[in-house]
Amino acid sequence: MAPLYKPGTDTVLRSLALLALGTPAVVLAGLMLGQRSPLVTGQYEAVPQPLQFDHRHHTADEGIDCRYCHTTVMVSAHAGIPPIELCMGCHAQVWNESPLLEPLRKASFDDVPIAWRSVHRLPDFVYFNHAIHVNKGVGCVTCHGRVDEMALVYQVVPLNMGWCLDCHRNPSPHLRPLEHVTDVAWKPKEEPEALGRRLAQELDVHPSVECYTCHR
Ligand code: HEC
Ligand code: HEC
Ligand code: HEC
Ligand code: HEC
Ligand code: HEC
Repeated sequence: MAPLYKPGTDTVLRSLALLALGTPAVVLAGLMLGQRSPLVTGQYEAVPQPLQFDHRHHTADEGIDCRYCHTTVMVSAHAGIPPIELCMGCHAQVWNESPLLEPLRKASFDDVPIAWRSVHRLPDFVYFNHAIHVNKGVGCVTCHGRVDEMALVYQVVPLNMGWCLDCHRNPSPHLRPLEHVTDVAWKPKEEPEALGRRLAQELDVHPSVECYTCHR
């Protein structure tokens, strides 16, 4: 009798199906692992943007502080994305002939904002607040990685509940002196554990793990 499926092509699928019949637990574990895999969390995927803005040129090469562009990060829930006027403050003069800046000049001329696409996005039922984290010594790099080395920003952490809770249960190893929260290359000069404990005490750091903290 001719096989229903071409041999080979569906072997993987079929063995999975067999496995499913035999051991539901394995499948459940598979699904749960799936939830944690980068494929599901959207980690490491560069998000294409309408304009090739490159953090490497602006943070590493030019040494511009994150707060110069993400102006509300220390005082509000949102870090904020800079308006065109801020870019034009430099680019009306600097590299003003560059073809890469054409979308910027056009947006500025037409007086429309640039439609940047979100890279980090939590579901609506989650409450997050930048100010509270950065004012308690959690640096940008802890949650966003080395954006100063990224051509296009991508997500380096899972951003799932387990990730939030891991740090909320034990924040000290993730703390740094407040003057270094935007310094992505900062390394502790003293013994990290002792420093973390001291900072947690000095800054009175007590994150909550109660559900209403993040689901309100
Ligand atoms: C010259 C302005 C400028 C500076 C300086 C700057 N950024 Fe940005 N940043 C932007 C713009 C514009 C975007 C939106 C486009 C994009 O995602 O690349 C952005 C996007 C981001 C995003 C992704 C936002 C999202 O959609 O999730 C992160 C994270 C970020 N910046 C972190 C930083 C950090 C950390 C620093 C300092 C090390 C920094 N930025 C410095 C302009 C800047
Ligand atoms: C403080 C001044 C300053 C600000 C503000 C600034 N830039 Fe720049 N930008 C520069 C400089 C200087 C370079 C060239 C850097 C290099 O090549 O190392 C550059 C390079 C660029 C380039 C690459 C140009 C090319 O031909 O390679 C793009 C695109 C760009 N910037 C977009 C933006 C956007 C979008 C914003 C606003 C979110 C912005 N810049 C804000 C100074 C600035
Ligand atoms: C504790 C982790 C954490 C720290 C620390 C942190 N961020 Fe974020 N960031 C996030 C999360 C989570 C989001 C997505 C927020 C959402 O979807 O509501 C985000 C979103 C952003 C965005 C997108 C726009 C916005 O306002 O939501 C920018 C830009 C950004 N962060 C920049 C920064 C900069 C710059 C710093 C340091 C000064 C920083 N972040 C520190 C976790 C963090
Ligand atoms: C690397 C450590 C770290 C990560 C990751 C982290 N947090 Fe926090 N979070 C803190 C610290 C530290 C505080 C400040 C606690 C305090 O006020 O003493 C805090 C405070 C908060 C607060 C204010 C309420 C409170 O507990 O005081 C909210 C809301 C919050 N975090 C949500 C989140 C969410 C949502 C995520 C995941 C998307 C997250 N956090 C990830 C360290 C972290
Ligand atoms: C520090 C922040 C934080 C705290 C505290 C927290 N959560 Fe969450 N929770 C999140 C984030 C972020 C997500 C979205 C990402 C995800 O699904 O993992 C989430 C997602 C969820 C979801 C949806 C899961 C899914 O698969 O879609 C449920 C249900 C939930 N939380 C329940 C709870 C309960 C119950 C508590 C208290 C025991 C709690 N959370 C405490 C941050 C938090």
